[in-house]
Amino acid sequence: MSTPHNTAQNDEIAKIVLMPGDPLRAKFIAENYLDDPICFNTVRNVLGYTGAYKNKRISVMASGMGMPSIGIYSYELYKFYDVDTIIRVGSCGGYIPELHALDVLLAKSCWSESTFAKVQSGEGSDVQYPSPSINQAIKDTAKIMNIDLKEYRLHSSDVFYHETNQAQDIAIKNGCAAVEMESFALFHNAHVLNKKAACICTVSDSFVHDENLTSKQRENSFDTMIKLALETTLR
Ligand code: HPA
Repeated sequence: MSTPHNTAQNDEIAKIVLMPGDPLRAKFIAENYLDDPICFNTVRNVLGYTGAYKNKRISVMASGMGMPSIGIYSYELYKFYDVDTIIRVGSCGGYIPELHALDVLLAKSCWSESTFAKVQSGEGSDVQYPSPSINQAIKDTAKIMNIDLKEYRLHSSDVFYHETNQAQDIAIKNGCAAVEMESFALFHNAHVLNKKAACICTVSDSFVHDENLTSKQRENSFDTMIKLALETTLR
């Protein structure tokens, strides 16, 4: 089968999918971390690959940016391709002083002003949760790998460029430590379809610290996050 957005046949996608936002990141992960990657989707350049990590069959597919985009791709993977688990591997902007660029963060929950959940299923909650079993596996793996994994609530925002700080202030009041634009829709889709989801982010920028990073530093923290996600899939 295929969908309007994905030309993969049913058996071409693994049960576990890593999901970065950027298609070129999906390609990079497939080509640098997986054995024998095969590209299963190029529609709209939203690249998807299946390969093996230490003999475990894994797929990696981009989500694009924002909740409408990840809403489409994650829904199709769960519903039409029988995917069990999606781990988003993204970036976020730190709201609080405790978070610094390059930190690796696990989403404990996410809050959003988005209408995504309400419109998708009639469910009104503005907080969505990852799957406890996946989060536990990620935390256990981080411990073994000696990764200092921070756990916080994320703000999933529909807006990147703001005229005021109002949305940020409300998100912080609601307990958010960092902002990204996808996990609320991913967690909601997993919830309504009885599937599993988690989100790991590297802090790419800070709203409180002026931190200039080298491209090598960015590469290293990306590598830590990807290896953490991949090692988690072996558990
Ligand atoms: N806003 C939204 N999403 C993000 C940001 C940001 O500042 N940084 C990384 N992802």
